[in-house]
Amino acid sequence: MRLLEGELLESREILPRQWLQRYRAPWLAGGVRAGQFVHVRTPDYSGLVLRRPFSVNTVDRKQGEISIHFRIEGKGTEWMARLRPADRLEMMGPLGRPFEVDPRSRHLLLIAGGLGMAGVRALADEALASGRQVAILFGARSAAEVYPSSLLPDEVEYVVATDDGSLGHVGRVTDLLPAFEAWADQAFACGPEPMLAALATLAGGRDARLGVARLGRKGRSRPAGLGTPQARRRSWLQVSMEQNMGCAVGACLGCVVIGVKGPQRVCREGPVFAADEIDWEASA
Ligand code: FES
Repeated sequence: MRLLEGELLESREILPRQWLQRYRAPWLAGGVRAGQFVHVRTPDYSGLVLRRPFSVNTVDRKQGEISIHFRIEGKGTEWMARLRPADRLEMMGPLGRPFEVDPRSRHLLLIAGGLGMAGVRALADEALASGRQVAILFGARSAAEVYPSSLLPDEVEYVVATDDGSLGHVGRVTDLLPAFEAWADQAFACGPEPMLAALATLAGGRDARLGVARLGRKGRSRPAGLGTPQARRRSWLQVSMEQNMGCAVGACLGCVVIGVKGPQRVCREGPVFAADEIDWEASA
């Protein structure tokens, strides 16, 4: 983890009040993995002191660039939306734990609700670069808030659900899961907590619906402990949790969610968790 400046290269409004910004940050682009985030601080002259966490949306390691995708939700993001190329932001990262893809997984299902696309977007590139197939299920309130398909790689299968039926499936993005659950070797989700909780419930019943047998393997060593990269890799569903943050380095406990083994800091133990690490009822 390092603390350095990123230089803005491009900034554009891709949806109403949602911005995509590309930064030169070679020190970050070289080591970040899909699912991790940066903690950003605007310069002193902005008059704003709080840092803000942003998922790393895309990474270009060759060019040493990353992008972030955010919605204007307060003074900080309003200020950031006014930045111009060559402006600089202080960035701390990469932070948090990334998505864990099982080396045997060939078909990855990414599920995003609204701004949750920012949390899973980088994984689509990582997966395609390693020869995997990717489908993205995306949910929004209406067509006006649907992430543009032009910002996704051509190889991705992109399926949309809108609450009002103005584009794609009428209803929730979670309705789409059953049609993909047999195809997907693993699923990765980011979005509002009720959406993640609903997906966790669906994932919990997947093996029974598909008739997947759980057989012990001869000579197998003890199962990997909950929360380890190995256990997460074996989990069918991983979720990236969104939470307000203070320090982003595990010190303030301002980002805690309730896990089945007790409190979990989203900035340290997360933001990515296996779905079965979270106590969804207690967190609701
Ligand atoms: S934000 Fe301080 S512990 Fe996570």
